[in-house]
Amino acid sequence: MVCFRLSPVPGSGLVLLCLVLGAVSSYALELNVTDSEKATCLYAKWQMNFTIHYETTSKTFKTVTISDFSTATYNGSICGDEQNNPKIVVQFGSGFSWTVNFTKEESTYSIDGISFSYNISDNTTFPDAKDKGILTVRDAVGFRIPLNNIFRCNSLSTLEKNGVVQYYWDVHVQAFVQNGTVSTKEFLCEKDKTVTTVVPFVPTTAPSPTVTPAPREKPEVGSYSVNNSNGTCLLATMGLQLNLTHDKVVSVININPNTTDFTGSCQPQTALLRLNGSNIKYLDFVFAVKNENRFYLKEVNVSMYLVNGSAFSIANNNLSYWDAPLGSSYMCNKEQTVSVSGAFQINTFELRVQPFNVMEGKYSTAQDCSADDDNFLVPIAVGAALAGVLILVLLAYFIGLKRHHAGYEQF
Ligand SMILES: *[C@@H]1O[C@H](CO)[C@@H](O)[C@H](O)[C@H]1NC(C)=O
Ligand SMILES: *[C@@H]1O[C@H](CO)[C@@H](O)[C@H](O)[C@H]1NC(C)=O
Ligand SMILES: *[C@@H]1O[C@H](CO)[C@@H](O)[C@H](O)[C@H]1NC(C)=O
Ligand SMILES: *[C@@H]1O[C@H](CO)[C@@H](O)[C@H](O)[C@H]1NC(C)=O
Ligand SMILES: *[C@@H]1O[C@H](CO)[C@@H](O)[C@H](O)[C@H]1NC(C)=O
Ligand SMILES: *[C@@H]1O[C@H](CO)[C@@H](O)[C@H](O)[C@H]1NC(C)=O
Ligand SMILES: *[C@@H]1O[C@H](CO)[C@@H](O)[C@H](O)[C@H]1NC(C)=O
Ligand SMILES: *[C@@H]1O[C@H](CO)[C@@H](O)[C@H](O)[C@H]1NC(C)=O
Ligand SMILES: *[C@@H]1O[C@H](CO)[C@@H](O)[C@H](O)[C@H]1NC(C)=O
Ligand SMILES: *[C@@H]1O[C@H](CO)[C@@H](O)[C@H](O)[C@H]1NC(C)=O
Ligand SMILES: *[C@@H]1O[C@H](CO)[C@@H](O)[C@H](O)[C@H]1NC(C)=O
Ligand SMILES: *[C@@H]1O[C@H](CO)[C@@H](O)[C@H](O)[C@H]1NC(C)=O
Repeated sequence: MVCFRLSPVPGSGLVLLCLVLGAVSSYALELNVTDSEKATCLYAKWQMNFTIHYETTSKTFKTVTISDFSTATYNGSICGDEQNNPKIVVQFGSGFSWTVNFTKEESTYSIDGISFSYNISDNTTFPDAKDKGILTVRDAVGFRIPLNNIFRCNSLSTLEKNGVVQYYWDVHVQAFVQNGTVSTKEFLCEKDKTVTTVVPFVPTTAPSPTVTPAPREKPEVGSYSVNNSNGTCLLATMGLQLNLTHDKVVSVININPNTTDFTGSCQPQTALLRLNGSNIKYLDFVFAVKNENRFYLKEVNVSMYLVNGSAFSIANNNLSYWDAPLGSSYMCNKEQTVSVSGAFQINTFELRVQPFNVMEGKYSTAQDCSADDDNFLVPIAVGAALAGVLILVLLAYFIGLKRHHAGYEQF
């Protein structure tokens, strides 16, 4: 699979193109369930992939990607009746099974839940797996669609749980089909509503060199904190943008604080803030004390899940950023970059951190990053201007004085 970045929106552009190219090369599943009168009652056509992260007997982790559906069978898929709800059941590969069920309300129907089972005992697919038996992940979806509408989502959707990432795209589905005719009324997912204007540009033609990237979006500012038995011991407020380079592809990912969890710990000499989210396994900020009177950001460790299911991990414990006196906080409103490695940088926006000596859950006075650089130019500029004025005044005075004397001499 080849990925290009061409769309102006960072991050989503990567997903978009990979997805469209993926759609060309991979297998679409299609199912047309008919009732006793041979009339269609449930119709679906979609693409999917799974990546499964599992622990091996040697305590390491492996990832497998399941994307071969050429052997798919659909036994157990039903239209639904008074007693049973409609469902799609797919069997594929060596003991995989995937089920989605639907429910009906007054004027809508819902995709109720998706479950995916795999046989981790199968050691050709899962070599050296520690666990044995059939494992199942269940996700409650609860997505509502008006009756007599076909749901469409060409954009990539992901579900992630217990080390299993499920990717879906090019999804078309309608349950409770009326009069045997699949509806032409499409009910779009949110992502399709926003990307439909972009998708048509993508197929076959190479990215035009004249595409001008729009200004990149700033990440939303998140507030993070860590508590110990004495209350809040670490505070951080910042917008975070990750910039990673993997296989020569640069991805810029804004962290959405709404979907990011955080934890951490505080010790006298060191403090940790750990973030995690759907595609971030962990992102650690480790702070340390130096010379018993200052703190700084000493270490960043990150592990991310990439679109193709593999992991990206980087660590650096020899950093020196965000340096300020103990008992104060460090603040920087302008964009700053923490360079963790050549392949991983963090751009920060509207940053304020205090990893030590937090009193009553509030920030102490801040040391501002602008003190380090451009602001000290202001006094110099003012001083220089004042000196210039002084010189002019003095010059004028002496010239005036000289003329005055000369005047007297003329008489
Ligand atoms: C589903 O199958 C029925 C009966 O074979 C056929 O009439 C109908 O056109 C099919 N619908 C789709 C969307 O393939
Ligand atoms: C699906 O059903 C067909 C025929 O009804 C049967 O031959 C096949 O073995 C079944 N497959 C599975 C996975 O149960
Ligand atoms: C649909 O499937 C989910 C997950 O497998 C399950 O929890 C739920 O009870 C099912 N709902 C119905 C109505 O069968
Ligand atoms: C799971 O895989 C193992 C090993 O291939 C096999 O012996 C077992 O029967 C499978 N279990 C099921 C329920 O298919
Ligand atoms: C899979 O397991 C069987 C017995 O459980 C063993 O004989 C075989 O060597 C294993 N294969 C691999 C590839 O580990
Ligand atoms: C289905 O057929 C019935 C009776 O022919 C009709 O009243 C109804 O409007 C049809 N519904 C749709 C969605 O076509
Ligand atoms: C809590 O505060 C007390 C008094 O300031 C201090 O002695 C103690 O070490 C603190 N505990 C922790 C876990 O920071
Ligand atoms: C930390 O403690 C404060 C009260 O001291 C509380 O309001 C806050 O929710 C706690 N935060 C976390 C992350 O537990
Ligand atoms: C991301 O990193 C690459 C390589 O270091 C750099 O060329 C690019 O300007 C960075 N982009 C952003 C938005 O930080
Ligand atoms: C996060 O949540 C806030 C309030 O619920 C909302 O205004 C904001 O748009 C959300 N941000 C993102 C990126 O989803
Ligand atoms: C963060 O990690 C915790 C514990 O591993 C997990 O329960 C939680 O779901 C993760 N948060 C997100 C947003 O993925
Ligand atoms: C899905 O599988 C296909 C075929 O192996 C692969 O090319 C593609 O990258 C996969 N897509 C995703 C989103 O993982």
